[in-house]
Amino acid sequence: MKICILGTGYVGLVTGTCLSDFGLEVICVDKDSEKIKGLNNGKVPIYEPNLEALIKKNVSAGRLTFTTDFKKAVEQSKVIFIAVGTPPNDDGSANLKQIEKVAQQIAVFLNEYKVIVNKSTVPIGTATKIKEIINKNVIARSEATRQSQPTSKAFDFDIVSNPEFLREGSAVYDFTHPDKIVIGTNSPKALKIMQEIYRPLYLIDTPFVITNPETAELIKYACNAFLATKITFINEIANLSDKVGADVHQIAKAMGLDGRISPKFLHPGPGYGGSCFPKDTEALYHFASTCGYDFKLLKGVISANKRQRELMVEKIKRHLGGTLKGKTIAILGLSFKQNTDDIRKSPSIDIIKLLLKEGARIKCFDPLVMDNTKKILPDLIYCQDEYETARDSDALVIATEWNQFRNLNLSKI
Ligand SMILES: NC(=O)c1ccc[n+]([C@@H]2O[C@H](COP(=O)([O-])OP(=O)(O)OC[C@H]3O[C@@H](n4cnc5c(N)ncnc54)[C@H](O)[C@@H]3O)[C@@H](O)[C@H]2O)c1
Repeated sequence: MKICILGTGYVGLVTGTCLSDFGLEVICVDKDSEKIKGLNNGKVPIYEPNLEALIKKNVSAGRLTFTTDFKKAVEQSKVIFIAVGTPPNDDGSANLKQIEKVAQQIAVFLNEYKVIVNKSTVPIGTATKIKEIINKNVIARSEATRQSQPTSKAFDFDIVSNPEFLREGSAVYDFTHPDKIVIGTNSPKALKIMQEIYRPLYLIDTPFVITNPETAELIKYACNAFLATKITFINEIANLSDKVGADVHQIAKAMGLDGRISPKFLHPGPGYGGSCFPKDTEALYHFASTCGYDFKLLKGVISANKRQRELMVEKIKRHLGGTLKGKTIAILGLSFKQNTDDIRKSPSIDIIKLLLKEGARIKCFDPLVMDNTKKILPDLIYCQDEYETARDSDALVIATEWNQFRNLNLSKI
């Protein structure tokens, strides 16, 4: 079975690569010709552990290809995965322009029965919207070619919502060892094809949640919003602990020992960041509002998370005698978490911007994302390693949990 993936970003590239490793023939498509040219020359545009080797292996086996030729990819494939971006609009809602565009493009090249699978994180009702866009464009296409009726073959497609739960930094592992696979569709025929695609995961006892598209779409937002809430909760407890002399790490440990709570996502820090949690919490809050529901808890989480960055800066300021003017702050870690080259909505970057506003001078180091960061913050002092960063600084801030920062030689510092 041939599959194509529309959008070769973090989700699309990992999905395409891992599906090809399951033995399927996969065509990854992107409108970014530089990215595709690079991939065809063996240059992987993102960092994910084990991704490069897996791409190489499956390209060599002839199962994985990269192209900008949307037409060829769609026409040849039975299953089309959509993995384009859904960035936030100014009001926090999800911007669906990329999704709408690919739906229109798919309609142009629909030539026989296909399953159209949405992997992007989208507001509830988007699967229906994709279906409507494709139907409308198929009709327009047949009118343009003066057919009185479009062929039923060209009309024949099913929609599936199949949200993705991989984490950047462990995306390949997560895709191949997921906690669950969610398949939202009203079509038994499409469901059967999806089960075939994910058969290797079924064989390792991965639980499947089979539901309708609306439920699948809300499951994704509910998961991200809940995890963001958990992170924010422990940060609130950490802030309170600072005030009363309690140790938040022991509190988190004790909470995590409660089987009903679990220890995951109970690590206090500068607040959640990255390309997903901030936009998905905002999008869910906005979506709930459009349904006439004031999601008060989520509103509190979003505003507490924003405040967390400011509290970090306040804490540094307090330790440095109440002012940051002329002070040098060393920042270790720029990516939004370890093992990724993604700096989108990174807490570290937000904190640096706040520190600069306060008149501080910033020295920094990250094992992976110095070049990316230089593009948006060219005036920082970029250092070779942790120790050069620390030298002559007034404070050292560990802003990303890279393993190599866990055991610094403090006497050297
Ligand atoms: N990054 C994650 O960890 C993660 C995890 C789960 C879900 N998601 C969701 O998956 C979706 C994709 O996220 P991402 O981080 O992979 O995004 P990304 O920005 O890394 O990649 C999107 C890709 O789509 C391409 N694209 C856009 N329009 C196109 C078109 N018309 N034709 C072909 N290609 C096109 C872009 O050039 C880009 O390469 C989002 O909805 C996101 O919320 C992301």
